[in-house]
Amino acid sequence: VIHQKAYLLGGELRQWEGETTEVYSTISSTKDYAPTLLGSIPTMGEKEALEALGEACSAYDKGQGVWPTMKVKDRIHCMENFVKKMETKREEVVKLLMWEIGKSEPDSYKEFDRTVEYIYDTIEEYKELDRNSAKFQKHDGVYAHIRRGPLGVVLCLGPYNYPLNETFALLIPAIIMGNTTIFKPAKHGVLLITPLMEAFQSCFPKGVVNILFGRGRAVAAPIMQSGKVDVLALIGNSKSANALQEQHPKSNRLRLVLGLEAKNPAVVLPDANLDLSVNECIAGTLSFNGQRCTALKVVYVHQDIKDAFLDKFSKAVDSLPFGNPWDEGVKLTPLPEPGKSDYIQELIDDAMAKGAKILNERGGERFDNYIWPAVLYPVTKDMRVYQEEQFGPVIPVVSFEEISEPLDDMAESNYGQQVSLFGKDVYTLSPLIDTLANLVCRVNLNSSCQRGPDVYPFTGRKDSAQATLSVHDALRSFSIRTFVAFKDN
Ligand code: G3H
Repeated sequence: VIHQKAYLLGGELRQWEGETTEVYSTISSTKDYAPTLLGSIPTMGEKEALEALGEACSAYDKGQGVWPTMKVKDRIHCMENFVKKMETKREEVVKLLMWEIGKSEPDSYKEFDRTVEYIYDTIEEYKELDRNSAKFQKHDGVYAHIRRGPLGVVLCLGPYNYPLNETFALLIPAIIMGNTTIFKPAKHGVLLITPLMEAFQSCFPKGVVNILFGRGRAVAAPIMQSGKVDVLALIGNSKSANALQEQHPKSNRLRLVLGLEAKNPAVVLPDANLDLSVNECIAGTLSFNGQRCTALKVVYVHQDIKDAFLDKFSKAVDSLPFGNPWDEGVKLTPLPEPGKSDYIQELIDDAMAKGAKILNERGGERFDNYIWPAVLYPVTKDMRVYQEEQFGPVIPVVSFEEISEPLDDMAESNYGQQVSLFGKDVYTLSPLIDTLANLVCRVNLNSSCQRGPDVYPFTGRKDSAQATLSVHDALRSFSIRTFVAFKDN
């Protein structure tokens, strides 16, 4: 049990004396499925939020602070020290990832290792950026030395499904580019920051990283209302992003770096390789129980292949092993959000009331805080499971005759992150890929949707994202081009 008392403000690890909020895991160690107490965190409010903001503003000091004016090599040195210290905390963080969000052991290690690798890659990318900015350009007799400068104060909020990796995918590039930051860990996956607090405190100058705990509304709202935030960096849902953005009194001055909802479809064409498309759709819909923005959230199957596909797919769903994150070979694990199974149940009930059926034998089975993934067919546009981003274990399936049907649905959708396309005939695929690329930002051919490898751009159209993340792009999203020009005279 971890009682997180320390919080990081203005370079000091201060001890919290006020109210605390208990943190539970939905993974139960008792037979009656009672939640497990993992520890507690400070219940912070407006006062601490504004103090943290004050520290971040002073450290940035309108671009004249120690951090934004520090030499690139020195900022890199701080980041190298940080990642080295972080690496020593691997076991502690992974254990907390498993308990707090129910992520399987291999995936928890993957999340940690991917984050460390992301930091090292970011350092290398920043060195490259710096080398390039040292070069002079000359156009029409004007020399220019173009570089990248920080934007100011960044408020960082990460999601519960990747509480380490996605939070750091925002925080690390923001810090290294010379911005100062305030960050609040996700509601689930909050204690795993505890082992890293000392590293943040000791590796960066005063006020560069400020860490708050508490409810998003209580701490993020007053920070935004101050009008002093230059960048809102958030991976989560558009409702929270919009609410925070609207609170900024001069939102035209606010840069947004957002990763939001998606309803990524799989489109299975009649000539698709059946085994491959079933396997990829299983991974795409149900990795981490479907709790990924990149998850496949609706499957379109061509009428000619529908029966064979659904038969194999439903059996494959029922054969997935359920268990605790540390169980060997486990694929389905407890859901971290206490009310999530009820929500998934509502989606199933709504779809069934409107004519869908559950195709797999175990679909909708309830036990513990879990609901067995249901394969729902036929799903129609009036169903909630078609309209909402379920972010959990339920799979809506739609059949089609003409490719224009899924294409029209995607064109009308409010989202536009990725698509998975399964088929073989190159003359069919080639023009289709061109059309799909105008509807989403990544077309995955014969493979499920995913964010990585992290060198590839991660973004989306419409309500799915603002700005682009990747090792390369994030450095640009958290900076602005500035330059020195002089004439040849
Ligand atoms: O929740 C959205 C994440 O960006 C998904 O990332 O595709 O690496 O699992 P992933």
